[in-house]
Amino acid sequence: MMREKCLITGGAGFIGSHLARRLLASGHEVTVMDNLFTGTKANIYDLLENPRFTFILHDVTQPFWGQFDTIFNLACPASPIHYQRHPVETTKTSFMGMLNVLELALKTKARVLHTSTSEIYGDPLCHPQPEAYWGNVNTIGLRSCYDEGKRAAETISADFAREYGVDVRLVRIFNTYGPNMHPHDGRVVSNFIVQALAPTT
Ligand SMILES: NC(=O)c1ccc[n+]([C@@H]2O[C@H](COP(=O)([O-])OP(=O)(O)OC[C@H]3O[C@@H](n4cnc5c(N)ncnc54)[C@H](O)[C@@H]3O)[C@@H](O)[C@H]2O)c1
Repeated sequence: MMREKCLITGGAGFIGSHLARRLLASGHEVTVMDNLFTGTKANIYDLLENPRFTFILHDVTQPFWGQFDTIFNLACPASPIHYQRHPVETTKTSFMGMLNVLELALKTKARVLHTSTSEIYGDPLCHPQPEAYWGNVNTIGLRSCYDEGKRAAETISADFAREYGVDVRLVRIFNTYGPNMHPHDGRVVSNFIVQALAPTT
């Protein structure tokens, strides 16, 4: 197996910290870039001493440079509590973060994997949603910063692939839960679990 240099934006968050561990376990070099907006160093504390691991405190909306084989773009407030409190920051992070990642990938020939979301389907009119479904999305609602931000990130990714040949893959993640997720994050599955575990009065 070839050792790859990997960048994970948003790697101090829930999914990113698991991805970092998995890539390190497979022998790769991992750089996590995160501004700790919703993530925490506690999620990656045990990785800091690994010589193949680097942490960079940086906001993905600001341009950055580095030579990587693969860039995993996860940076984005993902819980309704956070993105509805910081809607402008959320749209900015989704779109400008993606743009910065794609521009770096174009210059350095890195491969990109972007974590999109089932929320790009909005309030879907068909169930379950096939990939070819385009969605039913409100452009100006309270959730729009997240939904439309992620849609714009998909659009610019597809255009960078078509226009400049950047190797970019999109994954649309549905509700995911597990260790390193903040219990009061406001996500649906963790809310159910926290409520089920709460003592009855
Ligand atoms: N967990 C899920 O169920 C789910 C579902 C669909 C999509 N996703 C997507 O997967 C990705 C990771 O989600 P998660 O559940 O791990 O969320 P998370 O909030 O735990 O992780 C997001 C990370 O991005 C960082 N971040 C936010 N803004 C940033 C910025 N401007 N610059 C640098 N870092 C920034 C946060 O500090 C955090 O560490 C997100 O893009 C999210 O939209 C997650």
